[in-house]
Amino acid sequence: MSLQSPRGTRDFYPDAMRVRSWLFGHFREVARRFGYEEVDAPVLEHAELFIRKAGEEIVEQLYHFTLHDRHLALRPELTPSLARMVIARQGELALPLRWFSIPQCWRYERMTRGRRREHYQWNMDVWGVPGVEAEAELVAAVFALLARLGLARGDVRVRVSSRALLESLARGSDLVGERFGALCVAVDKLGKIGAEAVAAQLTDPAGPVRLGAAEADALLGFLGVRELAEARRRLPAAAAPALAALDALFEGLDAYGVADRVVFDASIVRGLAYYTGVVFEAFDAAGDLRAICGGGRYDRLVESLGGRPLPAAGFGFGDAVIGELLAEKGLLPTLPRGLDDVVVAVAGGDDGGARRAAVRYASRLRAEGRSVELALDVPLKRALRSADRSGAARAHLIGPDELARGAVRVKDLATGSERDEPLGER
Ligand code: HAM
Repeated sequence: MSLQSPRGTRDFYPDAMRVRSWLFGHFREVARRFGYEEVDAPVLEHAELFIRKAGEEIVEQLYHFTLHDRHLALRPELTPSLARMVIARQGELALPLRWFSIPQCWRYERMTRGRRREHYQWNMDVWGVPGVEAEAELVAAVFALLARLGLARGDVRVRVSSRALLESLARGSDLVGERFGALCVAVDKLGKIGAEAVAAQLTDPAGPVRLGAAEADALLGFLGVRELAEARRRLPAAAAPALAALDALFEGLDAYGVADRVVFDASIVRGLAYYTGVVFEAFDAAGDLRAICGGGRYDRLVESLGGRPLPAAGFGFGDAVIGELLAEKGLLPTLPRGLDDVVVAVAGGDDGGARRAAVRYASRLRAEGRSVELALDVPLKRALRSADRSGAARAHLIGPDELARGAVRVKDLATGSERDEPLGER
């Protein structure tokens, strides 16, 4: 039997768990400050919730199996589960909804730096807000988190675009619904498989998109644009509402004081089929790492799963890439165990009186809210050695001598100084 966890998964020993809790604490606190409520869903779902036909990597990477005739999957992301939860209570839930969550997600990925087969993903999603004030709020929350983690203003940039720009370019070929989703998924692979391979997918007569060669060229050419003004010059009139939405988004970001860290980048398309409007991803400024987070507007997901139309926007922010960046910058904290006291019933051949006194004494400290480790019947030397290593502030020793004096011997583990305290006082 292998003692290693499955490839791409992690064990969290106490020191790693403390860092994880520290990070999640910041996720929770930022979400709370923006007025988001925490939700969760099962890690296991009906596989069909995640299976879409647009050629997405996330579907190919699904951990799925059939058990008792049920086709089940470990969630690769949370968004479809949230949509399912919203639909199940649509009409009852007061809009807008602002929800956050920190799910563990599973994807059978090729392992690279910052990409693993399970990751935790902080999600913030807004349901029922059609305007880009939702996206501005979400991007502002990402920057609020980055600041809390100690990153400097210039360390991370958000790149933003809108799928509606591509839609305006593809409109001539009457691309709607699933075909447009498949187009975006193909275009998103540009960095990975190159322009020729993407063009081949877009124009494949047997594929889901079936663009003409000239249209595919125009589309791929547009992805190189990095200025909104240039996008405006190159796009047809049908792009006007999407361009106006991007202008409004930058105004909103300016009000939050973060517009200087957000850039327009036409190559941001995102690899999930359900996005419909603004899309964004955050990257480290040095450009060494994969996306830190990604999100956007997905106004038709609820409909596509059988609900009534409902606008929505959100992002997912993984724990892995940010962990790499924080480590690189020396910002990952070394966190102490947080133990306050060690209470020791010193082994010494009495009739158990020291044991009982130590248990009662430890219980009183715990009732005061302190974190107390209790060591019963341990030789004094060994007890003090392990108390020193534990990171506790004090050791409280109770043995036959102390009992006879009605006292506890309290040792300050930082200074080594000792004093008696009355045993019955606490
Ligand atoms: P995503 O871009 O697939 O979007 O994932 C979001 C983030 O999760 C990534 O930017 C990355 O930080 C992290 N992530 C994803 N896959 C892995 C992996 N294999 N290993 C480590 N980290 C990973 C979504 O999942 C959307 N559901 C986000 C969203 C929420 N959109 C709207 N609401």
